[in-house]
This record gives sequence, structure tokens and C-alpha cells, in this order.
Amino acid sequence: MTDETSKPQDDTSTSAPADDAQQESVQNERAQPESVQTESAPATPSVADEAVARKRGIKSYVIRGGRMTQAQTRGLEEVFPRLGLRHEQGELDLDALFGRRAPLVIEVGFGMGKSLCEQAQANPDTDFIGIEVHAPGVGKLLDDVDKLGLTNLRVYRHDALEVLADCVPAGCADTFQLFFPDPWPKKKHHKRRIVQPAFVELVRRVLKPGGHFHMATDWANYAEAMAEEMAEAPGFANTAPAETAPYVPRPDFRPLTKFEQRGERLGHGVWDLIFVKQD
Ligand SMILES: C[S@@+](CC[C@H](N)C(=O)[O-])C[C@H]1O[C@@H](n2cnc3c(N)ncnc32)[C@H](O)[C@@H]1O
Repeated sequence: MTDETSKPQDDTSTSAPADDAQQESVQNERAQPESVQTESAPATPSVADEAVARKRGIKSYVIRGGRMTQAQTRGLEEVFPRLGLRHEQGELDLDALFGRRAPLVIEVGFGMGKSLCEQAQANPDTDFIGIEVHAPGVGKLLDDVDKLGLTNLRVYRHDALEVLADCVPAGCADTFQLFFPDPWPKKKHHKRRIVQPAFVELVRRVLKPGGHFHMATDWANYAEAMAEEMAEAPGFANTAPAETAPYVPRPDFRPLTKFEQRGERLGHGVWDLIFVKQD
């Protein structure tokens, strides 16, 4: 990565949080919906979820309370009982869940869910499972999905490491998406980045042979770390062409995410990485 490509990242890292609490507030600010907040309901912080994440060894997020919009509250209270998935339910029966057998995409950390919803709407012959801990984002996505009448998307509000280990059947997914994961820019926080061997192994477990693991980030040194981690990971091969390796050119089929838009405004670069699971 050249100095030039990493420059935009530095712009942001100067305003990056100095400690966990500040990181937490930046993350919360990033995840807030753009619509006006109402006093309708508090987002419930799940202390238990965080404790479980620590036990798993990667604590890649911070949950904060906050106010939710009426639509987000509706999504959680009215739609989640129909389209939400719970960790306690154990291993999924995908055929029963979607009432058919179709290609499956899993996305971790969908934020407010805009790009995942767009993908589900544009691909009615594919099924989607989203996993996110941020309550307003889960509520927003479910509200949107319900209003659009989509039947090919289900959502967990839970730590992805737990869900991948305990609920998602081995070898079921065609594609695994991780778009703009929290960069945890300070070196002392790098251990909180989700792309680490334990996570990559869970991704490998749930992918079909030939399935794709697609990551994108607007942080140059996280992109480098992803590429290094994946080069070491057993059972994956990089799909990048020689001219752009280890990265792939931005694929047209990836919708613009909220964080990508934010990065664009800040002049960040974007790096896509796509790895294929070998037999
Ligand atoms: C920086 S945001 C990116 C959101 C979205 N992909 C986008 O590009 O706009 C990262 C998201 O990952 C979620 N996240 C982080 N670790 C997670 C985990 N272990 N399980 C589920 N979600 C997680 C956070 O709550 C946050 O919403």
C-alpha cells in the first residue's frame, strides 16, 4: 500500500478515538440512522451478548443504548417475531426457514441494513441472512423488509461469532459478506478487529466448497491485515487478478453501503477482497 493510498485513512485516524469509551461513541455515532430520532423506545444494550463475545476471544463491537425511531421500534417489536432469528433456537433448518432451497448469502455487520435490503430486493431467487448487534440497525432493516414484502431475508440480532458457531449449518452458504467492519484504528485495539483466525475459520466452516468470502474496507492498513490474514488461512484461495492482487476491482454487484458513502465523502480509498473456499 503506498503512502498515497493510506493518506485518507490518516485523516480519519487523527480524529480517531483515544480510548475504548471514545471508540464506542464514534461507533455509535456512525451507526445512528439519518432520520430524526424519536423518544419512542430505548435500544436495549445486551450486556450478556458482550460477555459472550469476550469469552469467544474477539470483542469486535460495543453496544450502546440510545433512542430509536418509531420505524426501528416497529421493526424490533412487530417484525422481529416473524422475520427475526434467535441464537437460542440453535441450528437452523434452512429449507424450513425459507420454504425452498436457494443460493444463500450471509452478511455480518450490516449496520443500518440499507445495502443488504437492496441486495435482497434485487435478488429474489437468493436467500439472505443478516447478523448484526446494533438494535436500531436491526429494527430499521426489518421495518424496511416488511414494508417491501420481502420473503428472502432473515435477521439475527446477536454476536456473529456465536451465531456462526452455533446456528449456521456447516457448508450452507454460497457467499459470506463483511462490508466495512469496524476498523479499530488504534494499534492497541487491533485485537478487536473481527478478521482474525477464529472468525475466518468460522467463515470457512459455513461456506460451501467454491463459496466466496467477500470483504471490503476503506482502511488501508485493515485491508493489508485482511490480505495477510487470508494468505495464512487454510482452505482459501485469493480470486484477485495478478494486476490488482491481493485486491479485486470494486465489483458492480456490491451496493454502496452507508460507510462506503461516508468514506467517499472523506476521500478514502476502498479495497475489496474476494477469497474462494477450496474443497
Ligand atoms: C462500521 S459498521 C459497517 C456497517 C455496514 N456494513 C456499512 O458498510 O454501512 C460495522 C458494523 O458491524 C457490527 N458488528 C461488529 N462486530 C459484530 C459482531 N461480532 N456481530 C455482529 N455485528 C457486529 C457493528 O455493530 C456495526 O454495525
